[in-house]
Amino acid sequence: MSTPRPAPLALITGASSGIGLEMARDLYQRGYDLLIVGSSERIDEAAAELRGPDPTTERTIIPVRADLTTYDGVEDVWTAFTDLDRPLDAALLNAGMGIGGAFVDTDLDDELKMIALNCTSQVHLAKRVIPLLVTQGHGRVLFTSSVSATTATPYEPVYGPTRSFVFSFANGLREELRGTGVSVTTLLPGATDSGFHGKAGMGDTKFGDNTWKNDRRDVARQGVEAMLKGRPHVIGGNRATKRTGLLNKFLPETYKARRQGKQARPSH
Ligand SMILES: NC(=O)c1ccc[n+]([C@@H]2O[C@H](COP(=O)([O-])OP(=O)(O)OC[C@H]3O[C@@H](n4cnc5c(N)ncnc54)[C@H](OP(=O)(O)O)[C@@H]3O)[C@@H](O)[C@H]2O)c1
Repeated sequence: MSTPRPAPLALITGASSGIGLEMARDLYQRGYDLLIVGSSERIDEAAAELRGPDPTTERTIIPVRADLTTYDGVEDVWTAFTDLDRPLDAALLNAGMGIGGAFVDTDLDDELKMIALNCTSQVHLAKRVIPLLVTQGHGRVLFTSSVSATTATPYEPVYGPTRSFVFSFANGLREELRGTGVSVTTLLPGATDSGFHGKAGMGDTKFGDNTWKNDRRDVARQGVEAMLKGRPHVIGGNRATKRTGLLNKFLPETYKARRQGKQARPSH
């Protein structure tokens, strides 16, 4: 009798809330074991929520609490994975934060921290994950970028460029990894109904209102499906969001900047 194939394993950062939690839920329902990462105790709550009420389940969900703005935090995540001594089937590098406000008003330390999370930690974790996947000869990588990568982002003047960085980074990696069995997908969500804009201090902007934004479950599902199919990228959201993302390729930067500024400008 052949031994049953072990469940595939996915590593997901930023999985304690929002889009990352929904991506974790989606993959768990598809039969993946999970190593999920967040910076607060919410990651333990997320693991309990995903496991559900059945304590006898043999499925694996490992919550890891780590501050990915630090070098050691990223290494702690990698150690938690290597301690498992098993293959990695998917890595979803999704954790990110935003900071709203005019550049003359925002705090430099906050912005450097955001760059550390949104850019540096992505490169650092990719540096650990991708050589392993290449050695395995298989694996899926999903980077969460943003539609913000396709436009200037006044009143979030540093956030948007962090998402452009990830988009460009992933595009380069994809080409390098052609033929290795490792796929690289980018998810570019439009505005999505998570706690993201509230935490970014954008509660008094159009983005601060969650009622009109994309459903995080739809955005997460679109990202997971694109990743599992090995697609290069997907704009996450409804038809209007997808149209905006596509049209942004052709619209003048000054026009896009003005339009974006109206949505992100604080009302006070
Ligand atoms: N929501 C949107 O409108 C939108 C649009 C486009 C792109 N995105 C992108 O989507 C991704 C997820 O955003 P979201 O909307 O799901 O936001 P969210 O609900 O605020 O989730 C952010 C996640 O990142 C984690 N995180 C934050 N700081 C961290 C740190 N220092 N170390 C480790 N983990 C940290 C959070 O965990 P803790 O709470 O435990 O720290 C949480 O799990 C981000 O990369 C964002 O740029 C969002």
